[in-house]
Amino acid sequence: MNACGQTKIERMSAPKSASTVATGTPAAALPVDLNQLERLAQPAMSPMAWDYVRGGAADEITLRENRAAYDRIRLKPRVLCDVSRIDTAAVLLSQPLACPILLAPAAYHRLYHPDGEIATVTGAARMGAGAVISSFATVAIEDIVRSAASARPWFQLYVNPDRRFTQQLVERVENAGCAAICLTVDTPVLGCRYRERDFKLPAGIECPNVAAIAGEAVAAHRPVRERIYSAVFDSSLSWRDIAWLRSVTRLPIVLKGILNPDDAARALDAGVDAIIVSNHGGRNLDTVPATIEVLPLVAERVSGKIPVLVDGGIRRGTDILKALALGARAVLIGRPYLYGLALAGADGVAHVIDVLRAEFEMAMALAGRTTLQAIDRTVLWE
Ligand code: FNR
Ligand code: LAC
Repeated sequence: MNACGQTKIERMSAPKSASTVATGTPAAALPVDLNQLERLAQPAMSPMAWDYVRGGAADEITLRENRAAYDRIRLKPRVLCDVSRIDTAAVLLSQPLACPILLAPAAYHRLYHPDGEIATVTGAARMGAGAVISSFATVAIEDIVRSAASARPWFQLYVNPDRRFTQQLVERVENAGCAAICLTVDTPVLGCRYRERDFKLPAGIECPNVAAIAGEAVAAHRPVRERIYSAVFDSSLSWRDIAWLRSVTRLPIVLKGILNPDDAARALDAGVDAIIVSNHGGRNLDTVPATIEVLPLVAERVSGKIPVLVDGGIRRGTDILKALALGARAVLIGRPYLYGLALAGADGVAHVIDVLRAEFEMAMALAGRTTLQAIDRTVLWE
């Protein structure tokens, strides 16, 4: 283990009783390497939850490619740059972040840990990272925002066919204090996920922010052969609805799930505040390219007019460096923090962010870049 990793582990093992949580895994015992963390998380999760989290669509080609594409990119360091101070601070939609990392929206956190989304936002706030709360959160949004204190989370919206219901939900999350609406646009229907065949939310785990449709949220995971549509995703959603959403909220609107540069151009025309280049972690349309391959094409089209974020396959600090070099203002991580959550609640989530941030700082220092502004394509061996 390298020196930096050891520092982090020592910090986490400082005598703080809170580091042992319901799953019984002391945070100090977690490995630094996020690949190891994934292996460790499996026994801490039910087989159904494990399949739900780690799986992708169909042959999982995109799921694998999201990761493999990062591994193919080579870095081009500069030496003798005085890297004795590294600054990772960022501002995103007027919000300060200690590092350019956000937790991607993911459904059903109480499936992984009894504290659910409370633990998630607590861990993120502790590390100065952003958090995006799924429509299918398992804790009331008001309680989640309260736990995040001043670090206001974003709310990820799935538009329900009942627009009145959706409008009330948007008003509710705005009143609760969420900082942005993150509209997921890559899920008019779910992808064909064979690992979700047996998915069923256990009794006692509910989605209180979409209570009116909770039963159907569970049914969304039915096997694909029965039907492709679900009562919880409005498959008629179109560009016209962005204007509708704009008319019902004052919050910034972020579109999540843009891959095609032409769609990025339309998003600019529609006046959204940011976009997230995402293929839903390889869970929807299989055989689309890795997000890191698409990112530079999208960033070129957006040409700095609004922030472009990216998610999918980010597991290393060097991945964050590459994403920023190719035009991302910040990155979102999905599965790794869910493994941290399953193992150690808020401490586990904080640990995952801490590891990624430390690896990112190391990558910046070794590449000879001390600020986020100094990260551009010249850090890549093209
Ligand atoms: C997701 N994702 C997701 N996205 C979204 O907009 N709303 C949601 O409710 C969910 N739910 C969800 C559950 C689980 C278990 C996973 C793994 C993912 C997609 C997520 O926001 C993100 O795009 C990917 O997870 C990013 O890829 P990595 O980091 O997991 O590889
Ligand atoms: C998922 C949905 C709920 O990826 O977004 O499972």
